[in-house]
Amino acid sequence: MDKFLITGGLPLSGRVVVSGAKNSALPCMAAAVLTPETVTLHNVPYVRDCLTQRRLLEDLGATVLVPELRTHKITATPIELFEAPYELVKTMRASVLALGPLLARFGKAKVSLPGGCAIGTRPIDLHLEGLKALGAEVTLEAGDVVARAPKRGRLRGGEMHFEKVTVTGTENLLMAATLAEGKTVLHNAAREPEVSDLAELLNRMGARVRGAGSPTITIEGVEALGGAEHTIIPDRIETGTFLIAAAITGGELEIKDCVPEHSGIVIAHLREAGVEIEEVNQSTLRVRRSSKGLVARDVVTEPHPRFPTDMQAQYMALMTQAEGRSMITETIFENRFMHASEMQRMGAQIHIDGRIATVEGPTQLMGARVQASDLRASACLVLAGLAASGETIIDRVYHIDRGYEKIEMKLRALGADIERLKESEV
Ligand code: EPZ
Repeated sequence: MDKFLITGGLPLSGRVVVSGAKNSALPCMAAAVLTPETVTLHNVPYVRDCLTQRRLLEDLGATVLVPELRTHKITATPIELFEAPYELVKTMRASVLALGPLLARFGKAKVSLPGGCAIGTRPIDLHLEGLKALGAEVTLEAGDVVARAPKRGRLRGGEMHFEKVTVTGTENLLMAATLAEGKTVLHNAAREPEVSDLAELLNRMGARVRGAGSPTITIEGVEALGGAEHTIIPDRIETGTFLIAAAITGGELEIKDCVPEHSGIVIAHLREAGVEIEEVNQSTLRVRRSSKGLVARDVVTEPHPRFPTDMQAQYMALMTQAEGRSMITETIFENRFMHASEMQRMGAQIHIDGRIATVEGPTQLMGARVQASDLRASACLVLAGLAASGETIIDRVYHIDRGYEKIEMKLRALGADIERLKESEV
């Protein structure tokens, strides 16, 4: 398994281009299953989760052409398999996004029930409850979710009140409802920009979705959907990660091809914590640490438009370098502080009490051997390694490859001393 070797203490400088959003590309790729015509997606990030999603589509029978690295031409016909098998789902929970489209277009779908993951139990009960509200019959058979549309093979419009905001739950229902008979209303829906991006693609395919980005989404079902062309939005979590990379190394960066508006809450919190962020234009941010230094600021993770849980770990790394005590409350996932104990190995002062992490700073981090446990935890450890004195070795960086495109190359181009070590090299 690859590792990263980082020699810290170097301020980053220069320009970095943000890739497409993994968490938009995955549902948009699944949406291609809703039509026999070709869906062309641009700005698909070259990350492992998108390769896994592509493999799932090909296993179903779709053709995925990649004329350029970040352009996918997906034609989901003929579809011969109506299931997302255990082997795939266990490597990537987002495979569950095949459920809604398969059920809506073919009236049947089988998806291995995703188990828990490093950050939490992550059930899909709300996805299933929603599909039942559209008339589906859902059973659990030998670890698989088996869903069937009502006798006449088509889902029917209905109402779903999400007890909890769920991003992929909203996306699964959104896709399923596009081909249902009649109107569907989703209440307490997720408002993440990735949900709006999916809705934009669906409407380009001929769907009738209104209200995406708000808590209430209305979908008028149509008989069939067609092909479309769509460009995936930039990755706001990658944007946030590079904002913190500049601040934690005391460097100065220009972040290109991002959408500042999507990172509004993160930018607001970072500014409060002493990070100077200038919106150069609608797709460019300039960032540096304020000369007055970083100050501790509390944060609570919540669904969009509040502070994203996917930025919590990176923010914690920054708070180890800030003056004072900060409290970080994780309300979305029950086990998303795995990075804290690894940073403690680097000398960070962090105390965990259930869903609250208290960070004392500033502390000079020391290079050490640490282990990544999940995607965002690995980003946190890279940031900590960049700020630390001496060498840091991060094990299991396969986690970071799931959602960051060539991060070590981007960082090296900004002056970081980081290299990927193959198993045999350590
Ligand atoms: C999406 O996961 C993202 N993944 C996650 O990003 C992100 O952390 C999460 O949303 C929250 O923002 C993708 O978009 C592919 P949820 P998702 O359903 O949809 C509970 C990353 O780092 N819940 O919004 O799986 C659940 O347990 C990844 O890129 C139920 O109880 O998350 C959690 O506590 C990690 N029942 C909360 O809701 C359900 O049926 C929010 O989860 C569904 C969810």
